[in-house]
Amino acid sequence: MTCLAACGGGESPPAAPAVPVVLSADSIPLRALAQQAGIRIGSAGDRGFRWTGTDGSNFRAILSREFSVLTPENDMKFDHVHPAPTTYYFAGADSLVTFAQQNQMSVRGHTLVWHQQLPSWVNSAASAQSALVDHITTVVGHFKGKLLAWDVVNEAFNDDGTRRSTYWSDHIGPSYIELAFRTARAADPDVPLFYNDYNIEGLGSKSDSVYAMVKDFLARGVPINGVGLQSHFVVNGVPSTLGANIARFVALGIKVHITELDVRVPTPSTSVSLAAQAQNYHDVVAACIQVKGCELVTMWGFTDKDSWVPGTFPGFGEALPWDAFFQQKPAFHSVYDALAGR
Ligand code: XIL
Repeated sequence: MTCLAACGGGESPPAAPAVPVVLSADSIPLRALAQQAGIRIGSAGDRGFRWTGTDGSNFRAILSREFSVLTPENDMKFDHVHPAPTTYYFAGADSLVTFAQQNQMSVRGHTLVWHQQLPSWVNSAASAQSALVDHITTVVGHFKGKLLAWDVVNEAFNDDGTRRSTYWSDHIGPSYIELAFRTARAADPDVPLFYNDYNIEGLGSKSDSVYAMVKDFLARGVPINGVGLQSHFVVNGVPSTLGANIARFVALGIKVHITELDVRVPTPSTSVSLAAQAQNYHDVVAACIQVKGCELVTMWGFTDKDSWVPGTFPGFGEALPWDAFFQQKPAFHSVYDALAGR
């Protein structure tokens, strides 16, 4: 355990402090190390902004000290920003953008077109195509000039590489993906536009399909600037072909972002599983640094106090580099080392 500012000489740090202390004054912020390594380091987060008291201040202090990119975990999703056909709500996302600007952080927009977290009204929309175009035009327009990138379409493929059947594909047809990209580009001529998915981190049929789509889009002039590899891994599950896969996407002339990194372990964790997790975090960060064109590693949150993992993968958790008391875990130190070139 790192001795934090509150540790006095010779005193042992408490195991689970009642008042979590946060910032290790002895370390260089991850974001500074990342900059030296030629990438950025980010975290998702939005519920933490609403925490009061020590938890909230710890959350905001670590986020702004260590990370240079913020992805709203939920606050930019369709159901949040577009709850009724002609109603848009941007206050939640705007407050995150303001926080980021105040702390010299960039914001990754997430996500415009997905099959989840859709408001029920879209099911009775007179035209799915109009709903999609209106949504993208309004939301991208609202954040124009303020974002590092947009995840335009999220999770459009099945694991076998076929197209996923969704509200959008069923009502518009497979061309909804390129319609989304063209509409986003029309609303903001400059923001980088990404396709984002999981289980496309290594070589395989699903990432082959995404690769083919990107190649086709580039050949036909459909605007796309990058691919997001979500990277929700189970411990020891980082594909050995991650680096090769990043390299082949970059060779197409687009960027790669690691967009949602977490490494879940069976709970409760052990020192062995946390050491393996740390190695996995190191490998992912090092793989991104290795390939010019891999611009960013974003974790899906940073503290085990607040992660989607336990609710989604029963029996698994503790997937992030800080524990539930905001203490740095072995994975923090391995990310630090990878960014420092060790
Ligand atoms: C998750 C959030 O973390 C949860 O809070 C929410 O309840 C559901 O969505 N892939 C994505 C993310 O692209 O948007 C998902 O985020 C996790 C999987």
